[in-house]
Amino acid sequence: MDNSHLSQEGIKKLITAAIEARRKSYSPYSHYQVGAALLTADDKIITGCNVENAAYGPSNCAERTAFFKAVSEGIRDFSAIAIVGSPEGEAITQFAYPCGVCRQVMREFCEPSQFQIIVVKSEDDYRVMTLAELLPESFGPENLRDGNEHCEKEQEA
Ligand code: THU
Repeated sequence: MDNSHLSQEGIKKLITAAIEARRKSYSPYSHYQVGAALLTADDKIITGCNVENAAYGPSNCAERTAFFKAVSEGIRDFSAIAIVGSPEGEAITQFAYPCGVCRQVMREFCEPSQFQIIVVKSEDDYRVMTLAELLPESFGPENLRDGNEHCEKEQEA
């Protein structure tokens, strides 16, 4: 199914799933809770939350949790992600944009001009952007492959 143009209903469903995922956030160090809901090309929703660690470095963002869950289950085609983040104990009060590392992880699996990123301040106040807007002029897997022309043709098809 082509869900590159999400309906308002589809967006709301994704936002609800991200809000629910945020409730699972393990963030005893930053006390900043993030939830993400990743929409697959065949319309499944894979959620993730941030998972922190006492050694700080091994902490994982909500977006990457969702991507790694999906990829580890064999899913590699995605159309959108909704992200909600705010300090612990609060409802969502701010737009939480994905960090640079998460944008690059998205770039690995998603077509930048197609993949949609939904940042959310409240259920009725959200912004929809493409990955290309948030990560312009990016470096991706096709840079490392032989025969880049062939690869570009495959993407266009
Ligand atoms: N965090 C995310 O989960 N996603 C982002 O894109 C930005 C930051 C998490 C990481 C850490 O657990 C907390 O928010 C504070 O940085």
